[in-house]
Order: sequence, then structure tokens, then C-alpha cells
Amino acid sequence: EKQVTSFDPGFMNTACCESTITYIDGDKGILRYRGYPIEQLAERSNFLEVAYLLIYGELPTATQLDTWKERIMSHTYIHVTLMDYMKSFRYDAHPMSMFIATMAAMSTEYPESNPTLTRRDLFEFDFRARNQQIFRILGKAPTIAACAYRHRIGRPYNYPTESFRGYSYTENFLYMLDRLSESDYRPSPAIAKALDVLFIVHADHELNCSTAAMRHLTSTRVDPYTAVAGAAGALYGPLHGGASEAVVRMLEEIGSVDRIDEFLEGVKSKTRRLMGFGHRIYKNYDPRAKILKEYAEKVFAEVGRDPLVDIAVELERRAIQDEYFVSRKLYPNVDFYSGIIYRACGFPLDMYPLLFALPRIAGWLAHWYESLREEKSAAKASIPGATHVMRARQTYVGDIDKSFPTEEERN
Ligand code: SDX
Repeated sequence: EKQVTSFDPGFMNTACCESTITYIDGDKGILRYRGYPIEQLAERSNFLEVAYLLIYGELPTATQLDTWKERIMSHTYIHVTLMDYMKSFRYDAHPMSMFIATMAAMSTEYPESNPTLTRRDLFEFDFRARNQQIFRILGKAPTIAACAYRHRIGRPYNYPTESFRGYSYTENFLYMLDRLSESDYRPSPAIAKALDVLFIVHADHELNCSTAAMRHLTSTRVDPYTAVAGAAGALYGPLHGGASEAVVRMLEEIGSVDRIDEFLEGVKSKTRRLMGFGHRIYKNYDPRAKILKEYAEKVFAEVGRDPLVDIAVELERRAIQDEYFVSRKLYPNVDFYSGIIYRACGFPLDMYPLLFALPRIAGWLAHWYESLREEKSAAKASIPGATHVMRARQTYVGDIDKSFPTEEERN
């Protein structure tokens, strides 16, 4: 068996497309959506406005934003057949598995998902049809996630708020998670705001693994429901979107500040990994981690301080001064503090990957929309190979020239 002697991830970092959506400078710790610094968006914007910016490229006017919110919030209900489908899952099915399966099942709900019915759609950028799909996916994803949560805790599913109540995107989501018997239940504004900031900083991140998966699936012209389910599958992995769950489990296992050094020795001897640290692009502090570290304090002021945060803050303080981590340019990433905030908000651990996927859908749809529009204009300009399926290449390191043994040679 051929021993793999070296592995160069470098070739995995080659650019495979041009984009105008998100800019990252990993050495300087810079993240910008359509040119706007993430710090300003987190402080002054809201998730739906950021989703519009990512997808359409410009900040919406007040009228455009109202229409955008009204379109999305009028698509929050899911068909009863999907709710019944979700009720068929095991009582302890992981919420992310339920979400992926149900988002894929969305493609059974809408005929335009079947390319053989609408062959012309394969190469025509039908603006109205694409926007309808965007409204449906952004509107229904939180409802599917809330149903997965209610299923997980063994409670009946809740319906979305009526749009006249004027709930924000995250308030509606929190309402469906926890709606008490009275129908005018309103989630805590501080928690809704913290979740909105978490959604903003998770919305897009250039061509990360799950967004690359979205672009690959989009290039085959599969419907966006199936493509989002596929991208969510990539995000589900513990080294990608599952890290915030792993961070909290790690902090719970460390258990107290005086056991940090023992844990860090395990990391250095490579028997443990410091989850929530390190990044393929950021070789400096992840700007999202800085924002979330500040927001954690605001959430604790509302719900009480989580003892895990003291372990996290001390763990970070020691690691970023330690030569082992400094020499490898390992700093906290977005997942280091997000999990603690989710926990303080009362989310169960297995909801964390889904809380990452929900906002990232806006980024996936932005890349989907950009690549379809690019290819439409390229096809219109009849650029050869414009409507191409993405097809990565490999470096072959196996045997080249073998011949099949004869009967005699085999006996
Ligand atoms: C996300 O791509 C994106 O943008 C992703 C994301 C997004 O928004 O979509 O930002 C979200 O996925 C954030 C990352 C979440 N994952 C984790 O927190 C899991 C823990 N982190 C790692 O597994 C790791 O840091 C990666 C996978 C995130 C990045 O790994 P790299 O850059 O490929 O680094 P590497 O595996 O080549 O390691 C380089 C060195 C190695 O040491 P040596 O072999 O040279 O001695 O750093 C070490 C690694 O062992 N190392 C770690 C470490 N990460 C790297 N050592 C301990 N703990 C870690 N977390």
C-alpha cells in the first residue's frame, strides 16, 4: 500500500473563481462584505440587510429593505408535508441531519427544481424565478431549523409569527423555538440582537469549504434547495462548522482554569487539538472572534455569566503568548466564542452547527447568484466553456503502467 509521505495543502488554496462578494486579508485579520468592514456591519446593520448586500451587491434603500423583509417573512411557512416528513425522524436525530434532509426535500416541493421540466432554465437567468427561490430558502430555513429543535426536545412544532407582528428575522426564529402558550410571546431583545450579530459574522467567508461545495453544485445547474443541502453537508464536519460544538465540549472537559496548562501540554504533544483556534486563511486574530468576544459580555449581562467563559478567556490569554501557538500563527477563530454565546442563550450543543449554517445560507446564495449571473453574461457573450461544470484536477501519484496478470502468472 502506497505510503503517503507528504501532503501539501497548498494546491488546495489555489483560486478557482473570481468574486466580488467577500474580501479577506488573513495576515492583517481583515474581513469585508462587498467592501464594508465586518466590524461596521456587525455594529450598525442587521442580518437581513447584510444578506441583501451579499446577494445583490449594494446596500438596499429603505424601501428595498422593507420589500426584501416582507418577501422573506411571507415565505416562512413550510408545507405540512415537510413537517410530517420531519416528524418521521428518530426522536434523537441530530438537528443538522434533519435540516440537511429537509432542505433537500424542499426540491420535491417546487417543480422548477426538476431540470427536465424546464430545460430552458438551465441556461437562462430567470431573474424572477431565482429571487423566488431566494425568498423561499431564506424564509423557510429558520422554520425548518426551529422544527428540528422542537423535534429534538420532544415538543410540538411551532408556526412562524404572523408578519404583521413585525418580528425581526432572529426574533421570529427565537419565537418558533420557544413560543410559550400565549401567542404574543416576544423573545429577549438582547438575545435577538446578539443572535443577529452572530448571524452577520457567520454570513459569508469567501471560498471556505462549504461555499466551494455550493459553487460546485451550482455549476451543474442543480436546483438551489439541493445545492444548499449539499453545502450544509460540507459545513456539518467538526473541522468546519461543527467546531463551536467541539469548543464547548473541550471547555467542559477542561473544567477549570487550573487544568488549562495540563490541557495545553496535551495539545503540544498532539494528543489534543485546541478547537476554535487556527485557520487556513487567518494567520492573525480572526476579526469575527474579536466581535463575538465583546458580544459575549453583553449576553452575559442579560442572562448571567457562563463559568466556561472564564476558562476560555484564560485559555486564549495563555495560548496567544505561548511559542507553540505563536510560531504556528494559531489564534482564536470565529468558533472560539460563538459556542459560549449559544450556550448562554440556552441552545443545546447539537444545535450549534445549524446556528452556523442558517446565516451562511445568505453567503451560499450570494455565490450561487453571482456564478449564475456571470455564466449568463458569459454565455450571452458566447464565451466558449462559459457554462462549465467545475472540475478540479488531482496530482496523480499512483502506478502508471501495470498489465493484468495472465492465468499462469496468477497461479
Ligand atoms: C471554520 O475556511 C473558512 O473560512 C472556515 C470558516 C468559515 O467561516 O467558513 O472560517 C469556519 O471552519 C473555522 C475553523 C473551525 N475549526 C476549528 O476550530 C478546528 C480546529 N482548527 C484546526 O483543525 C485547524 O486550525 C484548521 C483546520 C482550521 C486549519 O488548519 P490548517 O491551517 O490547515 O493548519 P494545519 O492543519 O496545516 O496545521 C498547521 C500546524 C500543525 O502543526 P505541525 O504539524 O506543523 O506541528 O498547526 C497545528 C497543526 O498540528 N494546528 C493546531 C491547530 N490547528 C493547526 N494545533 C492545535 N490546535 C489547533 N486547532
